[in-house]
Amino acid sequence: MEAAISDGRVAVLEELSKAYGSRRVLDAVSFDVRNGEVFGLLGPNGAGKTTLLECLTGLRRPTSGSVQVLGHAPSAPELRRMMAVQPQEAALFPQLTVRETVTLWASFYGEHEDVDEVLERVGLLGEAYQRVKALSGGQARRLLLAVTVIGRPRFLVLDEPAAGLDPQAKEHLWDVIRTQREAGGTVLLTTHDMNEATELCDRVAVLVNGRVAACDTPARLVSELASTSTVTFTTSARTNLDGLRDLPGVRAVDVTHGADGTRSVHLRTSQADVTLRHVAADERLAATDLDISRGGLEAVFRSLATDDPRHVEAAKTGKEGNV
Ligand SMILES: Nc1ncnc2c1ncn2[C@@H]1O[C@H](COP(=O)(O)OP(=O)(O)O)[C@@H](O)[C@H]1O
Ligand SMILES: [Mg+2]
Repeated sequence: MEAAISDGRVAVLEELSKAYGSRRVLDAVSFDVRNGEVFGLLGPNGAGKTTLLECLTGLRRPTSGSVQVLGHAPSAPELRRMMAVQPQEAALFPQLTVRETVTLWASFYGEHEDVDEVLERVGLLGEAYQRVKALSGGQARRLLLAVTVIGRPRFLVLDEPAAGLDPQAKEHLWDVIRTQREAGGTVLLTTHDMNEATELCDRVAVLVNGRVAACDTPARLVSELASTSTVTFTTSARTNLDGLRDLPGVRAVDVTHGADGTRSVHLRTSQADVTLRHVAADERLAATDLDISRGGLEAVFRSLATDDPRHVEAAKTGKEGNV
């Protein structure tokens, strides 16, 4: 464990792969989570985020590659007190009150947070004497968060903690995450919301189809990709689109199919004017609804989400200088 602290890395993943049967869900994933940071694993549904967390917390065995947490294998008993993973709702006793529940979990740990302080942080102080069985779904989520952090974990692991929360519950969640960081703890969370990742995380890894497409600070990811634009046009389903990838400046091509047999084509490009002129001048494309937009966060995410090997190569190159 000392080694893990002194080299500043709480979790280290090297070439981690996981297959379910013949289906490869994680493909040689490598990154590290540094001591004291909030690290976000960002990716669309089905990208492999939960599978990755399960490998990291010892619930699943990787097909190949290695994972180390605080210098230990994920299943090591030493980690139980240092790494906290939000439990399932089934871990709660319906007859206990909210306060009794958190007090019970606190008793599992030698050192722990103040029970009422944690209840206040998650926004449950007013419900302290309610029975668990009487809580709403949202309140139960807050309680699960409270029992996750009560033992003052060094490493907090949360799978889509913000999904389905109302704005006020989200505020409380963010407060809990920031408090964890201020206390010197480390957080790894997953999300499919780029804005949330930008707001909360010190660094982000973007997981696309089981691979790390990019890994950096949100600011650098955004600025690196903000220098590109998206040129969009509509064309018929029969148009040959093969040449588009080779246009000057084009980094990724993303096609969506309309109900009326047309296709929307999105070209991510670093030379928007040139791309636009090529598309407009190419009669075989018969492009209509030509449009150009600056790369906002959503466009960035869409471009990362296209399964274009050239783009993944570009993202990897971008990563090298920073990680
Ligand atoms: N136990 C399982 N057996 C087979 N396939 C699975 C299993 N769990 C997840 N998958 C598949 O692996 C892919 C990644 O899933 P998951 O890790 O849950 O992604 P995410 O959390 O990013 O949505 C999905 O296509 C999912 O259907
Ligand atoms: Mg998931």
